[in-house]
Amino acid sequence: MKEIFVTGGAGFIGSAFIRLVLDEHPGSNIVNFDALTYAGNLENLEGIDDSRHTFIKGDICGRDEVLAAMPDDCEAVFNFAAESHVDRSIHSADEFLRTNIIGTQILLDAAREKNVRRFVQVSTDEVMGSLPDESDEFFTESSPLQPNSPYAASKAAAEFVVRAARETHGVDTVVTRCGNNYGPRQFPEKLIPLMIANAMNDESLPVYGDGKNVRDWIYVDDHCRAIWLAFKKGRSGEAYNIGARNEQYNIDIVKSLLDSLGKPHSLINYVTDRLGHDRRYAIDPAKAETELGWKPLTTWEQGLAKTIDWYRENQDWVNRIRNGEYRSYYKSMYGAALK
Ligand SMILES: NC(=O)c1ccc[n+]([C@@H]2O[C@H](COP(=O)([O-])OP(=O)(O)OC[C@H]3O[C@@H](n4cnc5c(N)ncnc54)[C@H](O)[C@@H]3O)[C@@H](O)[C@H]2O)c1
Repeated sequence: MKEIFVTGGAGFIGSAFIRLVLDEHPGSNIVNFDALTYAGNLENLEGIDDSRHTFIKGDICGRDEVLAAMPDDCEAVFNFAAESHVDRSIHSADEFLRTNIIGTQILLDAAREKNVRRFVQVSTDEVMGSLPDESDEFFTESSPLQPNSPYAASKAAAEFVVRAARETHGVDTVVTRCGNNYGPRQFPEKLIPLMIANAMNDESLPVYGDGKNVRDWIYVDDHCRAIWLAFKKGRSGEAYNIGARNEQYNIDIVKSLLDSLGKPHSLINYVTDRLGHDRRYAIDPAKAETELGWKPLTTWEQGLAKTIDWYRENQDWVNRIRNGEYRSYYKSMYGAALK
């Protein structure tokens, strides 16, 4: 059995990655290290095979706890742990710099001390900034890093500390840069689950600005498969852009969710735009396709249908979150309390 160390495995993508590894890679045992911030939820791991999964609650910024938790004979570290919501980073950036940069450095130090075979940094297309509207430009691996939000800046800085660990200390590293993920168990502050949850409750759907921001959407399991392939087949020191060639306007997504849920478009409420709101993200995934042999398996239509079904069937999961701390956060962002 190979040991792998997954950080942030109680979050949206980390928990999907753990499910995928347990289902598709029977040779791996997982240590899942997660601080259980507001976004971490052990319910996301319900039903998994615990004989190959060990959960340890801990903070990636705690050097001693990281060293104690990381297995001695470790194949790979997969670093998902992060503060991940742009709006929160605009409100206050401190926690983003702490977790996303310092935490990554501490994980790299521990990986070096423990002779971990490979360090996989889960990054984001947002490190590359924004593309012009209606252009035919795409993000490639040689696009400059020019982050525009505190979140993106902290993830770009994390990429630099990963690079430095490789160049200075010879740590074997791979970086993945993915576009917007969607799927089951995504915290309902992000666009798609927020809109589904509000629509199901007949509440208004807050859409930033003119709704014409473009994001490149990928079903979460397709992202997780790409991360596994980057670990297995990626060239050391390389970054891989991951995307499903699926650009969508925010407003079109909101309308199609309302249509699928049988709710009126009159629930849409245009609100003041996010500060520094990036206009368009679009990824050229050719390098991942050719070098990793990766391609997405889920179409946008299939993925959205699966996602809507999951939220429909798991309203308790959503309601437990919406009844908690999230309510005051929602009020501060959109100026209205949840009913
Ligand atoms: N969601 C997306 O669309 C997307 C796209 C590309 C890349 N990413 C990256 O993927 C990763 C996972 O994103 P997500 O959407 O699942 O995020 P998430 O917010 O749902 O989960 C983050 C997880 O990290 C944990 N965590 C936070 N701070 C921690 C700390 N100091 N120590 C240990 N654990 C900590 C949280 O408890 C939570 O379980 C992030 O690194 C993010 O930047 C996300």
